[in-house]
Amino acid sequence: MKMKELLLFLSCVLCVSADGQHGDIKIIGCSDSYGELMFGLDGEELAYADFNKQEMIYPQPPFIDPMTYQEGTYESSVANLQVCRANMQNSRKGMKDFPLERDAPSGVMIYTRDEVEFGEKNYLICYVTGFYPAPVNVSWTKNKEKVTQGSSINVPYINKDGTFTQISRLDFTPQQGDVYSCKVEHLALTEPATKFYEVEASARSDPGVGPSVFCGVGLTLGLVGVAAGTFFLVKGNECS
Ligand SMILES: *[C@@H]1O[C@H](CO)[C@@H](O)[C@H](O)[C@H]1NC(C)=O
Repeated sequence: MKMKELLLFLSCVLCVSADGQHGDIKIIGCSDSYGELMFGLDGEELAYADFNKQEMIYPQPPFIDPMTYQEGTYESSVANLQVCRANMQNSRKGMKDFPLERDAPSGVMIYTRDEVEFGEKNYLICYVTGFYPAPVNVSWTKNKEKVTQGSSINVPYINKDGTFTQISRLDFTPQQGDVYSCKVEHLALTEPATKFYEVEASARSDPGVGPSVFCGVGLTLGLVGVAAGTFFLVKGNECS
């Protein structure tokens, strides 16, 4: 645990010193069957328009004191979506029904948010990336039964290469022997891509001594090296 905190801290220092800028993003996208309007900051979702619930959704947790957008943002999102669809129709006419590019997901990963402890609430994450167009459908099973509650998915996030990423999350409490799966459907997949997660195989009842042992051995070797170096340095100076 201590190691983890240390690494987290180090990576924070590195990223702060490497780059003091923030990245703001607004995504407007549409297809015949889907539309998206999302505001993000530094890779996080700040807000998106939910066209079914007909309102803006602010997915950030309350403890970070999330910002909200002014009234009318949802209505202007609807207008933006209409503009997007109109532009799409014009492009279709102008470009004589150009074929739709299709990329199946290049990666599907399933993992837990926290280290697994039996009986401790946790989250399963299904991370899907590299697909075009958006979105994917993600569904979960527990011991082959469909899970209907406790899952959520974020809106598609655009990657640098123009493909998309979506992340689905499932509340779960690890019990020995349970098998979960996340099934991903996409336009470019002839059959769904499914990833399995088996609690038994990956749970550790003991947080693991591995990291501490490696750290101890590494540190010892390092100190021995420094001592040897100092020894030869001193010896070398004595000779000359
Ligand atoms: C995703 O689910 C919706 C609603 O069930 C369905 O209309 C759509 O065809 C699905 N998309 C894919 C790629 O399977």
